[in-house]
Amino acid sequence: MATKRRILTGDRPTGRLHLGHYVGTLKNRVALQHEYESFFIIADLHVLTTKPGKEHILRTRQLVREVVLDYLAVGIDPASSTIFVQSTIPGTFELNLYFEMLVSVPRLERVPSIKEMARDAQLTTLPFGLLGYPVLQAADILLPRAHLVPVASDNEAHVEVAREVARRFNRLYGEVFPEPEGLIGDVLVGTDGQAKASKSLDNVIYLSDDASTVEQKVRTMYTDPQRVRADVPGRVEDNPVFIYHDAFNPDKAEVDDLKARYRAGRVGDVEVKQKLARAINAFLDPIRERRAYYAAQPDLIEDVLVTGNRRMRAESAETVALVREAMGLPVLEEVGTVGAMLPAGLVYC
Ligand code: TRP
Repeated sequence: MATKRRILTGDRPTGRLHLGHYVGTLKNRVALQHEYESFFIIADLHVLTTKPGKEHILRTRQLVREVVLDYLAVGIDPASSTIFVQSTIPGTFELNLYFEMLVSVPRLERVPSIKEMARDAQLTTLPFGLLGYPVLQAADILLPRAHLVPVASDNEAHVEVAREVARRFNRLYGEVFPEPEGLIGDVLVGTDGQAKASKSLDNVIYLSDDASTVEQKVRTMYTDPQRVRADVPGRVEDNPVFIYHDAFNPDKAEVDDLKARYRAGRVGDVEVKQKLARAINAFLDPIRERRAYYAAQPDLIEDVLVTGNRRMRAESAETVALVREAMGLPVLEEVGTVGAMLPAGLVYC
């Protein structure tokens, strides 16, 4: 059997995942997880780029669990994919350092998300490590020698940096890395009509929200502001309520009917929103069920991560050996046993 191509993607553990994550990347992950050999990273080191304080590190550790539960809830299969925590993989730190030599400062200064992240975190000066955010991400992507990176479009520029790093490395030292390709998902509009659904803007519906929370969030969702009464023709395009209908309501006939009546001024917001809340709740029901099922098993998350971290450390050791050999650096003898040497308690939590 030909070996499968590989996926690497993941998330910073800054909170529970929401519908924006689903549309942007989780949907593609679930669809492709068996066609590709899949690696999903929980990028706790990336959180340090804006929040290095110990209280944040400890909080991040709690949130790792929530992210894993969200992965399992949407249908990522831990038996066939590798879910791991970035900070438990020594090779990440090592590749990051080598890659730092292959990217220029002005190149990184042109990555738009860096300034945005600094601004969002209210940083007055740019930490060296935050400038290097895309380089660390390149280390994540290239460590398992991934071919495909399913991300939302806000990460497209980071994947481009990883491609450049791979090309540069291969040119300098010989062919070690595939040039990874982004699989760019949609960005979901916020429930408040802002361009992006984002936890920090508090305009998201979480995958773990209960039915009444969803109803309440949909009831107050931003819609066509010109439409003051049900008999005024409304605008369907760019209207979050209809964007969400298109994304989460599988009953296309119902959506078409609502759109036609909305345009003609023959349907009230209440009906459109009630039907949307019903559709989102129907979409989330199996996700909530799986979340509850997995959450009820006390050691499950720990087991998934211990297994995933081990698997990834083995992959990492292999890549690091290839990298050191290609670069002409000494290859460590005990490479491959690093994970095995750690006492169990240190493997993950
Ligand atoms: N940058 C991603 C985010 O926006 C998280 C991340 C870290 C990532 N490493 C990655 C995504 C590697 C894809 C591939 O949270």
